[in-house]
Amino acid sequence: MEPAPRNPDRPLACIVMAGGKGTRMRSATPKVLHPIWGRSLLGWVIAAVREAGADRIVVVVPPDAAAAVAAAADGATTVVQPDQLGTGDAVRCAMPALAGFDGDVLIVSGDTPLLTSALLTDLVGAHSAAGAEGTAASFRLDDPGAYGRVVRTDGGIRIVEAKDATPDELAIDEVNAGLYVFSASALRPALAGLKNDNAQGEYYLPDVVPAIAAAGGAVRAAEVADAALLLGINTRVELAEAASLLRDRIITAHLLNGAGIIDPATTYIDADVTLAPDCVVHPFTILRGSTRLATGATAGPHSVLTDAVLHEGAQAGPFAHLRAGTVLHAGARVGAFVETKNAAVGARSKIPHLSYVGDAQIGEDTNIGAGNITANYDGRTKHRTVIGDRVRTGSDTVLVAPVAIGDDATIGAGSIITHDVPAGALGIARARQHVIEDYAKRKRDA
Ligand code: UD1
Ligand code: CA
Repeated sequence: MEPAPRNPDRPLACIVMAGGKGTRMRSATPKVLHPIWGRSLLGWVIAAVREAGADRIVVVVPPDAAAAVAAAADGATTVVQPDQLGTGDAVRCAMPALAGFDGDVLIVSGDTPLLTSALLTDLVGAHSAAGAEGTAASFRLDDPGAYGRVVRTDGGIRIVEAKDATPDELAIDEVNAGLYVFSASALRPALAGLKNDNAQGEYYLPDVVPAIAAAGGAVRAAEVADAALLLGINTRVELAEAASLLRDRIITAHLLNGAGIIDPATTYIDADVTLAPDCVVHPFTILRGSTRLATGATAGPHSVLTDAVLHEGAQAGPFAHLRAGTVLHAGARVGAFVETKNAAVGARSKIPHLSYVGDAQIGEDTNIGAGNITANYDGRTKHRTVIGDRVRTGSDTVLVAPVAIGDDATIGAGSIITHDVPAGALGIARARQHVIEDYAKRKRDA
């Protein structure tokens, strides 16, 4: 396919076919909801379609998973396909949601997460450049298996399903990718005439091709060189393959953008993570959700960050677990075997070792001693801990929330703090030490 610009003035809609059952996943989760790097398969497809400029997106969903799939459809319109009567039926169910739409309709499958917006815009551009009413993406395979075959006819194409093909047709190595662009005005009447008199008793979407041709419209195949972009997911084996390819794609984009990723082979980064140039991600680190690292921030080694924000020069790791809602302000540091959740750590403050800090706010230049715990849960509700600037807490402190520690306060080691400690004060709450002289000797003599 020659790259051709898409005409930005021609409206583009998209139908995502996700009405199938996906039984080969052997999973209670609907196929298109399986996640890869923080996004569902459907989420990947919708992101690519949106980036390609589709202003209206209609997702065809199965009746038994309608609500769950609709929730993952991220603002797109969803329509239920009551019975899985084939791809032609799926598109027919979607068309009422595009009533009055006059432009190009891109049709994709919900289980092809490797599609890129560049591929989709090229396809729509090739469609316009050819002045076609229909364009089907195709690719070549040494072993074309169960794919529909693209039969080139003079002036156009025909698509025949493997189960309906003659031996000569089965020998064709150009296959139908299941990715199309049609002019809405040509697609509507062609869908109305679909029949299911074929080997599978299904309404085949590719059967709109001869109908459009019979009405005088041109239908072309646009060959895609990189077939990996078209990988469809049917089993968990293919899901793992796609995850591996997408992982490389995510990491490569970050590296080209200037993020330091020391060992891509042991680094896992979700699709919606943001990395600024010159941040550093050390080996064996997992960045999840909407995590953001600013310039000079470092994560890892051996750390897991979920929906966390690291400002300039902040550090998490080694062996840190930052859960949702953690914010490390500039130069703050969270070290080994520390778990944080819903916690803001002020500039240059440190939680260096062995602590749990949840539902907490810590000021600037504060040091949390080793083994400190914010006891935030009373069995019913979560409570907040507020710690001021320049606070020092001793080792093995428990802060029983709700509790507040004022600026410049000190907490004695081993304290269980249940009452607020005012600014500048020492809070200490532990049993006094007793020393019994000559204890060993008395024990021996007894
Ligand atoms: C389809 C094409 C085949 C092509 C292949 C590429 C048809 C008849 N055949 O075959 O030419 O080579 O894709 O992968 O279209 N779906 C629905 N409702 C249905 C049936 C399917 O929404 O009633 C959805 C599925 O969820 C899936 C997509 O349509 O996302 C494609 O369906 P699938 O059954 O995988 O098509 P194939 O038989 O593989
Ligand atoms: Ca099928």
